[in-house]
Amino acid sequence: MSKIAIMGAMPEEIEPIINKLDNVDMTLYGANKYYEGSYHGQEVVVAYSKIGKVFATLTATVLIEKFGCDRLLFSGVAGAINDELNIGDLIIAKSLCQHDLDITAFGHPFGYVPEGDVSIDTDQTLRNIAQDVAKQKGLTLKEGIIATGDQFVANEERKNWIGTTFGADALEMEGASVAVVCNALNVPFFILRAISDSADMDASFNFDEFLESSAKISADFILSMVDELGR
Ligand code: ADE
Repeated sequence: MSKIAIMGAMPEEIEPIINKLDNVDMTLYGANKYYEGSYHGQEVVVAYSKIGKVFATLTATVLIEKFGCDRLLFSGVAGAINDELNIGDLIIAKSLCQHDLDITAFGHPFGYVPEGDVSIDTDQTLRNIAQDVAKQKGLTLKEGIIATGDQFVANEERKNWIGTTFGADALEMEGASVAVVCNALNVPFFILRAISDSADMDASFNFDEFLESSAKISADFILSMVDELGR
């Protein structure tokens, strides 16, 4: 039977999921907690990584290599770049890039290192399933480019630079790490984010205010996807 990894970066992003699991068994590994359990009969392993690309890389790898997960769904919040996105709106990544990866001094584009790619696509089948779930819920689900970096962006100029350089619609701090790991290990993956702020001068204030409610919007959608995947 398949085992689905569900990953967030912060406790607030996975708590609404862990609360709904049956037969939960927690394992501490590499200074992170991994919750094995089932949701409506579907086996899942749920964990939060802590914030940032390095921690996210570790957790995604452990979910796949130690716990044997064969698909990975990420749930969390993001800052909006595209001004069609408002607080609480969902966005799924069509592809992800690293906005803070810079060896342009050697003539390479931003976000590129040799033998890598500027952007990595998420799994088309999982995106299609997400669109089916959205339709059932009467929601419109925006698909776009998500840019990842080890920075909380609270600056209009930086946000606009990321928007123009990568064509990005939203930004966060983990998604592209998960993409690199899953792409290298051939594990289908999906990144969902609900908007918590607009990466502008109000971002830290809005993030604190909307983290919990937006994280729950994303987590609830992920649980509906697990139901659909378990069918
Ligand atoms: N996640 C949510 N909001 C963010 C922001 N403004 N910058 C980076 N990551 C975020």
